[in-house]
Amino acid sequence: MTISARLIQASEVPSAERAAFARDVLEGLSAEPKHLSCKWFYDTRGSELINSIMDLDEYYLTRCEAEVFEEHAAELLRAVGDEPFELVDLGAGDGRKTGILIRRFLELGARFEFFSIDISESASRSLAATLAREFPTLAGETLVAEYASGLAWLAERSTKRKLVLFLGSNIGNSSLDGARAFLGELGLALREDDLVLVGADLVKDVDVLRRAYDDSRGVTAAFNLNLLARIDRELGGHFDRGRFRFYSTWEPRTSAIESYLVSLVEQEIAIDALGRSFHFGAHEAIHTESSRKYTLAELARLADVSGFSGEAVFQDRRGWFADVLWRVAKTKGRVPALPQRARARR
Ligand code: AVJ
Repeated sequence: MTISARLIQASEVPSAERAAFARDVLEGLSAEPKHLSCKWFYDTRGSELINSIMDLDEYYLTRCEAEVFEEHAAELLRAVGDEPFELVDLGAGDGRKTGILIRRFLELGARFEFFSIDISESASRSLAATLAREFPTLAGETLVAEYASGLAWLAERSTKRKLVLFLGSNIGNSSLDGARAFLGELGLALREDDLVLVGADLVKDVDVLRRAYDDSRGVTAAFNLNLLARIDRELGGHFDRGRFRFYSTWEPRTSAIESYLVSLVEQEIAIDALGRSFHFGAHEAIHTESSRKYTLAELARLADVSGFSGEAVFQDRRGWFADVLWRVAKTKGRVPALPQRARARR
């Protein structure tokens, strides 16, 4: 019994993916203010760079979550119960976060199968290979699919209880409204009593936050600037990366680290695949990423408004990060509207 990859849905077609990238770049660089989506960070080079970021002392998030899993896996398992279950990872990446949880669960004698859902065939195959090597007794599959089709396939296949993972503060890339919409959809794709574990970074000392997103070795800067290099590589862009600088800042009004690439001079950048060029004023910024930070109270309210009931909160010793365990609420149905108060707070 080992992990293998399964295609639920045609894997990413490189040309379709490139067309979507082109559309997004056209829209984002034509907009005012300019923006590019952080989802395009993760080409081969970007994936290498995020792994280096996770190794940085300043980027505390990964180690905090690892500590949560090391320390609280038994408690988490008790909350899941004794019946065999299915561990379902959304956004597993190279699986290093989930690997810790899997190892602890296996040490504790838990009975479960593992599934990941990822639209990238290459990521799914390499995750399957890694997990098969590390955990030869682990059964399951890495599914190549959109989240919705992957979850539908899993629901049809078995009625075992699911523990769905959305780890590593990935939820932070969405606004509060976006998070509610995403989690509401997730809840609707699950059965009553299924569980989700959401890893969220918490509001904390501003200097700690800022250092995590503007590290001294410049890896985060390189990670952002790689977006311009990717436009050059894939869309025939003509960016001179020396004429842009990375800038990130804590923004209390969005409760997020906001990241930007700032044009140092007035310049005109041609992108061959788009058949046009884009004007950048001196000091004009492209917004590249929001990394939202939560309070425990906001997380509790988020569970509520997206159709879950809070089961448990697991934290590292410093209280910097939280993995919240939520159960799909009994009154499943339409996601309730966001209360006025929560909306006003955004
Ligand atoms: C992978 C989305 C969780 O927002 O903390 C790291 C990405 N950006 N440094 C985050 C990221 C800059 C990261 N997530």
